[in-house]
Amino acid sequence: MKTVLALETSCDETAVAVLRRRDDRSGNELLASEVASQVAAHEKFGGVVPEVASRNHLMYAPPLLDRAMSTAKIDLSNVDAFAATSGPGLASSLMIGASIAKGLAIGFGKPYLAINHLEGHLLSPFFGDADGDERVRPNVSLIVSGGHTMLVRVHALSDYNVVGRTVDDAAGEAFDKVAKMLGLGYPGGPEIEKRARGGDPNRFDLPRSMQGSENFSFSGLKTAVRYLLPKIGVIPSRADGEGPHSQSLEHRGPMRDQSPFERSFVSAQDDKLLSDLCASLQQAIIDVLVTKTIAAAQKYDVGLVTVSGGVGCNQELRRQLADACTREGFEFKTAEPWLCTDNAAMIAFVALLRLAAGFESHVTEEIDPNLALV
Ligand code: KG4
Ligand code: ZN
Repeated sequence: MKTVLALETSCDETAVAVLRRRDDRSGNELLASEVASQVAAHEKFGGVVPEVASRNHLMYAPPLLDRAMSTAKIDLSNVDAFAATSGPGLASSLMIGASIAKGLAIGFGKPYLAINHLEGHLLSPFFGDADGDERVRPNVSLIVSGGHTMLVRVHALSDYNVVGRTVDDAAGEAFDKVAKMLGLGYPGGPEIEKRARGGDPNRFDLPRSMQGSENFSFSGLKTAVRYLLPKIGVIPSRADGEGPHSQSLEHRGPMRDQSPFERSFVSAQDDKLLSDLCASLQQAIIDVLVTKTIAAAQKYDVGLVTVSGGVGCNQELRRQLADACTREGFEFKTAEPWLCTDNAAMIAFVALLRLAAGFESHVTEEIDPNLALV
């Protein structure tokens, strides 16, 4: 039996998890998984502010660690290895989790494992599987988050090829930036998904970029929405990452003193407009993700397709990708939504796999904000 404690502080979630690998190879037991979200701290800025993130990690990590240990009902001296995300991410944020894990590893004389955040996402669809050699099977994997959009060919643990990546914005970034333009909350993905329900995904013709390539581009989509808004009677919020911050999307028409959203869309017709716009944006992103993922699975002739990362929570993406896989004869696997957004359980999981495979890191290993998957 091996127990790993992992910290994840690469961006704006402070997370601690304790994961145990059972000796009978019947799978892992998640003893604790704590996530302290900083969404509220960054929401007013419409995005993550590195300085605010690192201060909050420093504040949240110690009590979170205490809580994880009491939930796990074990003592730190019973932990067999300490792990932390070492990159990619914000330097000042990565440093907090890595320093704590290194300190614990040194203090308790146990191994330290530096884990790649992207590998955490990449392998998260296998998290719930029973143990065994089959665990990480060859697959084509779509990692789709706020910072990354990539297609990866997975051969085995630590044997990967990146076959496609975004040349500009990540898919999550497209959700976040358009949401900001519309005066919706942060993070934008869940807000857009909520408003898209019942909307007409075909009402607005938005671009599907880089067709025929394995790479992605989402910045044109954001620009297309920006140019579309005035044509449909909506003035984009200046808080769209391209101008001075303001809180709301202004609408040409009567304004009421309510939430930014209600001030922007005051009539039932406007609600419908927003809903159709969100549905059209979501569908434009999904079309690109599904088409390229299926094309890669066909090209590399693998039987399994996986998806992970925050955008992987999107129910419509999960449904459409699952349907496309069924149609094309691929098995489809994804992590539960709580494992798709940033968490430490996926980091602990990779740490356990790497520990079992004989990998260890030295405590002198530096964090790397630009750490690549391969
Ligand atoms: O994996 P994650 O928590 O952090 C990064 O590693 O980036 O992903 C966060 C991203 C954000 O851009 C957020 O808007 C997006 O995932 N996201 C979603 C949904 N939930 C989170 N995008 C679309 N639909 C969702 N339901
Ligand atoms: Zn992530």
